[in-house]
Amino acid sequence: MKRIKGWGATVLACATTLQEAQWLESNGADGIVAQGIEAGGHRCIFLSKDLTTQLGTVELLTQLVQKVKVPVIATGGIADAGGVAAALSLGAIAVQLGTAYLLCSETRTSQIHRTALKSEDAQHTVITNLFSGGPARGIVNRAIKEIGPMNSDAPEFPLASPAITALRKNAEGRGLGDFSPLWCGQNATGCKEISAADLTRELAADL
Ligand SMILES: Cc1cc2nc3c(=O)[nH]c(=O)nc-3n(C[C@H](O)[C@H](O)[C@H](O)COP(=O)(O)O)c2cc1C
Repeated sequence: MKRIKGWGATVLACATTLQEAQWLESNGADGIVAQGIEAGGHRCIFLSKDLTTQLGTVELLTQLVQKVKVPVIATGGIADAGGVAAALSLGAIAVQLGTAYLLCSETRTSQIHRTALKSEDAQHTVITNLFSGGPARGIVNRAIKEIGPMNSDAPEFPLASPAITALRKNAEGRGLGDFSPLWCGQNATGCKEISAADLTRELAADL
């Protein structure tokens, strides 16, 4: 972190617990992203591997705003202007949305992933280590149902990814997302098939 800051950079780093936030602050982070358990994709958990430590966005944000001095950015499960306003009212200086942008025209989200995000399946997400070896939230699919969601036999991050590639490619070739990481947070209701710029403008206008 010192080296990066030496280049004049501002460092915003991600925490999933108060302990991680305090570690980042004491190591020089200029701002902390508070990542709640609702968040889609990979978790930034780094001090422990124990997922029972993971908090929802509201509780994590509240703890961090009270206990760290640097600005806190909220992320996880925020999908509309109401969610943004709620996070700001709890003391976040900004918010970060991930899942809501997955259908935007600029993204490289695959067709299989897009179809899942637009379906009822997106209401069923879980944290899994099957697709990379690291914990990440995605839509429940065949791999998760049959060998997951967490499996201690999955190779360590990032080696689980090449380990599942053959199955994934075979299924994708048949139009199936059975063995693909279908990253998605608990709240996919904000996904829109418009440009990222327009989605951001809509959120700002509704705020
Ligand atoms: C497709 C995708 C990939 C992600 N990959 C990472 C990652 O590698 N590391 C990380 O710390 N967060 C990752 N995230 C989490 C985001 O940084 C952010 O915390 C999250 O998307 C916010 O929650 P939301 O998805 O409910 O909006 C990813 C999110 C998505 C949607």
